[in-house]
Amino acid sequence: MDFIGSKGAVEEGAAFVSGGVNSGYRVGLRPNPLVFTSAHGATLTDIDGNTLIDYFLGMGPMLLGHSPAVVIEAAKSQLDISLLVAGQTPLEYRAAKLVLELMPGADLVRFASSGSEAVQVAFRVARAASKRMKMIKFEGHYHGWFDNILWSVAPDLALAGDPLHPNAVAGTQGQEPSENLVVLPWNNSDLIEEELKKGQIAGIIMEPIMFNSGGILPLPGYLERVRHLCTQYGALLIFDEVITGFRVCAGGAQEKLGVVPDLTILGKAIANGFAVAAIVGKREFMDLIGSGKVMHGGTYNTQSVSMAATIATLETIASGSPHKIIDETGTALMKGLQEEFTKAGVEHEVVGFPAVFNLRFDLKGPTDYRTAMKANRERYINFAYELLTRGIRVLPRGTWFLSSAHEISDIDKTLSAVRDVLKSGI
Ligand SMILES: Cc1ncc(COP(=O)(O)O)c(C=O)c1O
Repeated sequence: MDFIGSKGAVEEGAAFVSGGVNSGYRVGLRPNPLVFTSAHGATLTDIDGNTLIDYFLGMGPMLLGHSPAVVIEAAKSQLDISLLVAGQTPLEYRAAKLVLELMPGADLVRFASSGSEAVQVAFRVARAASKRMKMIKFEGHYHGWFDNILWSVAPDLALAGDPLHPNAVAGTQGQEPSENLVVLPWNNSDLIEEELKKGQIAGIIMEPIMFNSGGILPLPGYLERVRHLCTQYGALLIFDEVITGFRVCAGGAQEKLGVVPDLTILGKAIANGFAVAAIVGKREFMDLIGSGKVMHGGTYNTQSVSMAATIATLETIASGSPHKIIDETGTALMKGLQEEFTKAGVEHEVVGFPAVFNLRFDLKGPTDYRTAMKANRERYINFAYELLTRGIRVLPRGTWFLSSAHEISDIDKTLSAVRDVLKSGI
């Protein structure tokens, strides 16, 4: 399988599109960025005519697979009714009720159009509620690409400084200073308390299960203690569930782990590929938005087709059937991968849940970004590339997303490709 047509198309496209791609995260993938012509169920077809079993799933949103009939039909029907009204539609109230029914920490919701934007609203709410300015974020966690938070997402360790009191490392040129951000290592609640005691922290944002820099679960008792500390010191706890929400289970990481934040950021699987995100949370904090004290806007918020897709997606998730399917296929895949690598004598670890898990080589049990960076990432990137040439598309960073459209036959094909890669050596 080769990807020459994609290479040529991206090179030609670069005459019109800066760099030939429309997101900075789409560059640097081996062998070259791909150009797709269609996507259905668990598979993608590219411009070279390759059919790929897809574990990128649009970077996570496609929990029901690509183009699921229920979502597509809902969106198509809505196209004949309304698109953008700069006002309310009954659809957004129905979508809101569904979100609130599913998410334990949600009394009220505000819809946005991307996770990055919704994070910004959460920061404003935390600052307005606490009358303080500083936010805590953790090394390796990703909360969108805006200036005030694109810090220490994948920092070069040569720049990151003291592991217990890391430097904030910029994610891009042209970024504003990080004067209101404190970067800490994750999974160490003593350091959080040390910082909270200074009385300047408005809120703490984290991925409650870390999937952006290697899959890492919170240590036992960590989230509970952070929850307690936030309440004690008057800082808001913000869970960024853009990946985990509706995915690790219908109620996200907060349902799975039993810890309820003050605010939650949702996105991705909320609308199975449509541009919808949300901030949800406790009434006392969300009321700051509703009262107009905290400004939140957006031309495309609750665009009708997106809302129709949100309703169809969330009703399907609420029925329980997608997770039932994924529990079977995802578990089979996680187990199968473990068996293949064990047989081949490759030290590895599979961490996570059937709908999203992380695979890494030559390292077990990292608890934060710095320890996760000790995994053999180069070996993994080679492995991901070898799988791609055999028709299986996995993220080079180790995250695997599953959808309810993946069938056991896809898992079998995937494991057979893994065996083939292992035979030729990685
Ligand atoms: C945990 C997390 N938060 C926020 C975002 C940003 O969301 P968006 O890309 O919709 O702006 C992402 C995107 O991958 C994410 O993984």
